[in-house]
Amino acid sequence: MNQSIKHIQTYYDSHIAGKIKGFVEGNKRVERAWKTIEQWTPNNPQRILEVGCGIGDICWRMTRKWPNSVVVGLDVSPKSIEVAKKLFTCPQLHFVEGQLSKNTLSSQFDLIILMDVYEHIAVEDRAKLHEALKEVCSDCGRIILSFPTPRKQLNLRQYYPAQIQPIDEDINFSTIVNLASDIQTEVFLYQEVDVWHEGDYAHAVLGKREGLVTVAYPANGGVKRRICKFLQSKTQPLVPSRRQRLALVHERLGSEAYPNKSNI
Ligand SMILES: C[S@@+](CC[C@H](N)C(=O)[O-])C[C@H]1O[C@@H](n2cnc3c(N)ncnc32)[C@H](O)[C@@H]1O
Repeated sequence: MNQSIKHIQTYYDSHIAGKIKGFVEGNKRVERAWKTIEQWTPNNPQRILEVGCGIGDICWRMTRKWPNSVVVGLDVSPKSIEVAKKLFTCPQLHFVEGQLSKNTLSSQFDLIILMDVYEHIAVEDRAKLHEALKEVCSDCGRIILSFPTPRKQLNLRQYYPAQIQPIDEDINFSTIVNLASDIQTEVFLYQEVDVWHEGDYAHAVLGKREGLVTVAYPANGGVKRRICKFLQSKTQPLVPSRRQRLALVHERLGSEAYPNKSNI
């Protein structure tokens, strides 16, 4: 194991408390990215991979949103994976410790998420990651990324240097075009979004498309889908309430993992 990965593991292992807090209290950045994920996920994804899943809360949400899919969360931080495995248990959800490289995973995925992860890959390690992404992306696969814009990174470096992570590269449109070209996909979307400040984050969606695909407008599907969604939200909301999230943390990790009136 090289030193830089050890350093990264130690860093993220020591930031678990903040991730638990984000799960209980909610996180604007994650919610904004979730909108893009919902909008751009292909129909009925069979297999989903989240690279850099942290404590696994978004993997869990994806199993609730797409209950027929298998979801795999991968993270280099052993403690994050340990917490994820304790917190979120369901048969179609799997957590794996490690980095994505060729042969880490043997199957392909229809949806691959990198939420605030790509900027933490050193420039010299990108080629290896791209090779692996190309290998695990299915023929109809989509890759959805969220990352801070260079404007946000500059602001952090100038005013909040303590918030800069061990590896924190700038990602811009041409970085994404290079990634898409390396993994033989097209850029379907590149969009700056406003989370806490104007244009502080960007979302990108990459995918494969051959020829012209006819747009299917469902006859009554729109209304039907909305009714189903409404009924589903009444029976099992996608995201449980804060009280339920806190109860889950206490039940699975113990109350010391996130005291109710925490100042973390
Ligand atoms: C900023 S956190 C984002 C976590 C989560 N996706 C979110 O949006 O809250 C970055 C995560 O990526 C993981 N990570 C960093 N480099 C990685 C790599 N090379 N392979 C896999 N995971 C990595 C870290 O351990 C950490 O959990």
